[in-house]
Amino acid sequence: MPESTKTIHWVGDLDGCCRLIDQTLLPGECKEIDCTDSACMWDAIKRLAVRGAPAIGVAAAFGVILGIRGSKAGDRDAFLADLKQTTDYLASSRPTAVNLFWALDRMNRVAHAATDLDVAALKQRLFEESKAIWDEDREMCRALGRHGQTLLADGETALTHCNAGGLATADYGTALAVFFAAQEHGKTIAVFADETRPLNQGSRLTAWELQNAGIDVTVICDSMAGQVMKEGRIHKIFVGADRIAANGDTANKIGTYSVSVLAKEHGIPFYVVAPTSTFDLKSPDGDAIPIEERDASEINRGFSELNTPEGVAFYNPAFDVTPHEHVAAIVTECGIIERPDTSKILDHFRENGLLAEEGS
Ligand code: MRU
Repeated sequence: MPESTKTIHWVGDLDGCCRLIDQTLLPGECKEIDCTDSACMWDAIKRLAVRGAPAIGVAAAFGVILGIRGSKAGDRDAFLADLKQTTDYLASSRPTAVNLFWALDRMNRVAHAATDLDVAALKQRLFEESKAIWDEDREMCRALGRHGQTLLADGETALTHCNAGGLATADYGTALAVFFAAQEHGKTIAVFADETRPLNQGSRLTAWELQNAGIDVTVICDSMAGQVMKEGRIHKIFVGADRIAANGDTANKIGTYSVSVLAKEHGIPFYVVAPTSTFDLKSPDGDAIPIEERDASEINRGFSELNTPEGVAFYNPAFDVTPHEHVAAIVTECGIIERPDTSKILDHFRENGLLAEEGS
């Protein structure tokens, strides 16, 4: 990401707007759009103008502000009802990335806890919380990079799937933070980026970000990952996550599971890099994770022209689940969980004082 470019941020005070890059236009055009109401934000999330789990969480928090700042509620209870209506609405935009629900829950909890505030003060309190979520996301990326780069040695080549970079967060990413941090530590690394059909987040977005950062990036079709591994070109695999169940099963962009199976076959360490806000400890395993099914037109048109005969049937699950047995480690902003399972993940949360906050 060019330093000057921000994936998503708030402009001005409470009466300002949320400015975000319309990622559907990249890499051809880097154009920002201003959202001034919650419907604009819902639409931006739904059509992937803003995407990637942490960025969706930030977008949801800002979407709440856009939804409630005009509330005409005369008292606290009426305001909390308006807030719930807004958060329910934003929650219906996409089902898999848990950061969306995490951010909406956090906004609701803050409002309910602030029993001493009137409506005007509540709006301001929520505005501060949305900016805190944005700030924390930026710190989180740096911490993920710091921990994750220890897993990638000078001269090594990694493979990644989808886009878990600056475009998927408020700063410089989760899985891609590992590469950016490795570069900052003076390591020379190279990255293979899976194209990531159907919407090509790998070739459109990851390649754009890594190229801008001067990191050696090579794009391959998803179907080539096995061959590239067999040729011995890949030392490590780093991916992001949309939702991690209590036992470490990890939902991420469709195709990630296949990469994990190939990694196992070839003895290549497979790492998941994600903030603790991406864990869903209420889901015991991956079977409990809802998988978004998206429109068939993403397969036969994507963002371009028709590539399939008219009338053909399609199935378009947007995510899949990688079993925790395939995961060498999960990197969070608090450290590294090796060979993750339910008890190690619970320990990680407990040791970092996160269990009460998660309500688990
Ligand atoms: O459908 P998308 O583009 O929102 O899917 C994004 C991914 O699957 C990312 O890998 C994941 O959200 C992690 S982003 C840091």
